[in-house]
Amino acid sequence: MSVLNIAEVTKTFSGGTNAVDRFSLDVAGGELVCLLGPSGSGKSTLLRMVGGFEQPTGGRITIDGEDVTHLPPERRPTGMVFQSHALWTHMNVFKNVAFGLRLRRMPAKQIREKVEAVLELVGLAGYGDRMTTQLSGGQQQRVALARSLVLEPKILLLDEPFASLDQHLRERLRDEVRDIQQRLGITTLFVTHGQDEALSMADRIVVIANGRAEQIGRPDAVYRDPKTPFVAGFIGLMNLIEGEVKNGHFIRSEFTTPLPIADGPATLAIRPEALDLTASNAPTARVHRVTDYGSHGLVDLDLADGTRLKSTVANLDLFQAGQGVGLLPRAVAAYRENQQIYRS
Ligand SMILES: Nc1ncnc2c1ncn2[C@@H]1O[C@H](COP(=O)(O)OP(=O)(O)OP(=O)(O)O)[C@@H](O)[C@H]1O
Ligand SMILES: [Mg+2]
Repeated sequence: MSVLNIAEVTKTFSGGTNAVDRFSLDVAGGELVCLLGPSGSGKSTLLRMVGGFEQPTGGRITIDGEDVTHLPPERRPTGMVFQSHALWTHMNVFKNVAFGLRLRRMPAKQIREKVEAVLELVGLAGYGDRMTTQLSGGQQQRVALARSLVLEPKILLLDEPFASLDQHLRERLRDEVRDIQQRLGITTLFVTHGQDEALSMADRIVVIANGRAEQIGRPDAVYRDPKTPFVAGFIGLMNLIEGEVKNGHFIRSEFTTPLPIADGPATLAIRPEALDLTASNAPTARVHRVTDYGSHGLVDLDLADGTRLKSTVANLDLFQAGQGVGLLPRAVAAYRENQQIYRS
């Protein structure tokens, strides 16, 4: 059952910027959907429209069948954690979290119970008396999360809540938020421009570029089968090669591989893990650099015309800078006019 429906929503700012452009999405109850896209692609604007902090210039937003497009934030069943979280520094943790409940005129005893329960949930039991200035960045993010969760929103809106944190803390909080979200079964829209975050947390990912959904799908589907060159280049490492197709072969510089599509220009996409290197008497590429990542090795390669490619290899000892190699793609996708037209 769809809880949140976004239908053809558009936002044009007064200067003429089309931040969000006829965007549509259905989110099911209990689902966590990540909005993933580069800076300026319209992620925050979209989230703010769902939360009621920004008015769409077109389209409709419904929650549980009710049209909320023009309702103010406090009349929507949504809770939002902003990109730059703003805690009240003159209040302690307890008061920060209790604030929304006080506005709702809930009795003090009930407020205490709820705030203590939610602080426990986010791993801050016993921190109620601390001032927010005496917390680490990660703890402050948890207070911001607690402040939204305590109001028991039907839909949780998170705008890059971990952006300012170091990687280890980000990974830990990511796991914690996913646990909490699943335990409460709370429908969540999560904005990020970190693909790892999206791939590891999301039930579904929406890849956004220029205010439009480029692709919507499960993380594995978006990774394995990107439908546009933008998605192919944005999620994970990818070799994107511009070239020509002639008589069933893709050609770029010395590199050629069978590609059963009509003649003409095409973009070929090959994951580094699907590009094998072979010993060859007539090498098509030269090793530029080898990098040891511990779990695997990455070989940077150059075609004769300077095109840079990457290949993941198990045994780095076989390769060194300057060496000539052959290229053997095991799986490719091809794009023409921004659409996928072939996949092996
Ligand atoms: N209040 C505003 N007035 C005019 N233009 C705006 C306003 N807010 C955002 N924009 C523009 O709308 C576009 C989308 O901005 P938005 O903040 O939604 O991007 P984003 O995807 O969240 O980016 P980031 O990853 O950097 O946070 C940008 O071009 C931005 O400059
Ligand atoms: Mg943003």
